Amino acid sequence: MTALAITRPVSASIGRCELSFSARVPIDLERARAQHAVYESTLRQLGCRVESLPAADELPDAVFVEDTAVILDELAVITRPGAASRRAETNAVADRLSTVRPLARIEGPATLDGGDVLRAHRTLLVGIGTRTTRSGAAALARLVEPLGYSVVTVNVTGCLHLKSAVSWLGEDRLLLDPERVDPRPLDGFRLISVAPDESPAANALWVADTAVIAAGYPRTLECVETLGLPCLAVDNSELAKAEGGLTCCSLIVESSEPAIRAKRDVPKGRSKDDS
Ligand code: GLY
Repeated sequence: MTALAITRPVSASIGRCELSFSARVPIDLERARAQHAVYESTLRQLGCRVESLPAADELPDAVFVEDTAVILDELAVITRPGAASRRAETNAVADRLSTVRPLARIEGPATLDGGDVLRAHRTLLVGIGTRTTRSGAAALARLVEPLGYSVVTVNVTGCLHLKSAVSWLGEDRLLLDPERVDPRPLDGFRLISVAPDESPAANALWVADTAVIAAGYPRTLECVETLGLPCLAVDNSELAKAEGGLTCCSLIVESSEPAIRAKRDVPKGRSKDDS
């Protein structure tokens, strides 16, 4: 089965990206674009069909498409990003996803970033932190629990998103930085800690049964390889300055065939807690 990987070019305005935990340092646009091209080639190498959305140079963080949607087999949930500057990013993503999934939406004032939603089979771990509110997690739960998913909230501290600190590596495996996430809701998973001082390696992309890990974190790479898992290292150092990780730069649609051909919206994810 060929997965569709939706990406978006690095915006010319990336230097004005949102920053929550890192100091602003110059981002080399050409280098960021070159690294992003290698990322896209890696996805192709892993069998994905990569489709780049139109550039949005006026939206600094548009390359981080992951935050704009949560894609499940049955539907795609268009998020309401926690940073107001990022909300317009969802339009082009919703247009594209409407051709492969029925759409649902998180409605304001709730907020939810895709980077805070980690799927492991039928469990969605949802990080509560600077971008995703409890009402955002509740709105998602109302949309997906009737489909048989369970939503488990996880407190995240000291990093932007849940997936900055935890990644799913297939089966029951989670790669994580235990310093940045409360492990108590993760009971039942096999927890693999990143090497000390290799915290950014906790954001890894699991695609085609391969762990794509940020380059520069050799001990974590070795640890994952020791588990018998295929690994690839990809340099993401420029976009890391914008607090973006490897998962942030794609939306993976496991089958590009419409799950339900009729284009329709499912009930809105509004919470009575939101009013
Ligand atoms: N710069 C990525 C974000 O803040 O969403």
